[in-house]
Amino acid sequence: EILVVKSETPGLVSLAYELNPGTDVTVFAGDLRTAGFNPKLKSSPYPGIARLLAIETPCGHRLEFLETEEGLAAAFSGAGRREAGVAPIRLGHAAITSSKAAELIAFHRDVLGFWETDWIGDVATFLTCNCDHHVINIVNTPAHGAHHIAFQLRDAGHHAQAGDRLRAAGIRTEWGPTRHTAGHNIAAYHFDPDRTMIELYAEMDVFIPEAGACQPRPWHEHVPMKPKRWGLDELSAWGVDFRFDLAKGEQPPRATRF
Ligand SMILES: [Fe+2]
Repeated sequence: EILVVKSETPGLVSLAYELNPGTDVTVFAGDLRTAGFNPKLKSSPYPGIARLLAIETPCGHRLEFLETEEGLAAAFSGAGRREAGVAPIRLGHAAITSSKAAELIAFHRDVLGFWETDWIGDVATFLTCNCDHHVINIVNTPAHGAHHIAFQLRDAGHHAQAGDRLRAAGIRTEWGPTRHTAGHNIAAYHFDPDRTMIELYAEMDVFIPEAGACQPRPWHEHVPMKPKRWGLDELSAWGVDFRFDLAKGEQPPRATRF
């Protein structure tokens, strides 16, 4: 879910993770304190969620952990398919920039129990807490904020429909579509009217924690596909080039319209 907050400057207010049903929030709060954080237990603004734990990371990102009940996620995801607009299936991942990326990565890996599934040079680190190749991508840059947020489409064919919908709305696709290497998802990027970069993706690798490797959806070049450090020039499995370098956190100079 996305919560839009009115602000003078675009940015990422907070990123919320859903805790496993049955997680004792007071025990988890103790774990966070042990890890050096000062978690605050609060009532939640999100529908269906009573309480959340909030922490501030060393680089100033706010992370929230939602107390959930069995079946709540299924209830949220059962809203049905919309016929209007691009109509993505779900919010799949966020990519955030951080000046203290190593600390943020260590927190996700060592305190939250995420798995690192791939890297792009020493710039981007992909992590997951479920079977998606990544639910978060932490980008090592001086600024802190949102690099992009990503919505999942049904399949590659949905990308063509989405591109047409965006074109009809006067929004150009800035990068892609192509198939990424890290995650092997078909991906394309555009800006929303507030200049937040949005990725639309499909066919992402499925991560199997027990195997420490990914299953293809539908293919990838290495078997088994273990976590790999890809080069900065290896963002496109199709080998195509685009007019700005996504790997370096670059964005085009201005959001152009047709
Ligand atoms: Fe992404």
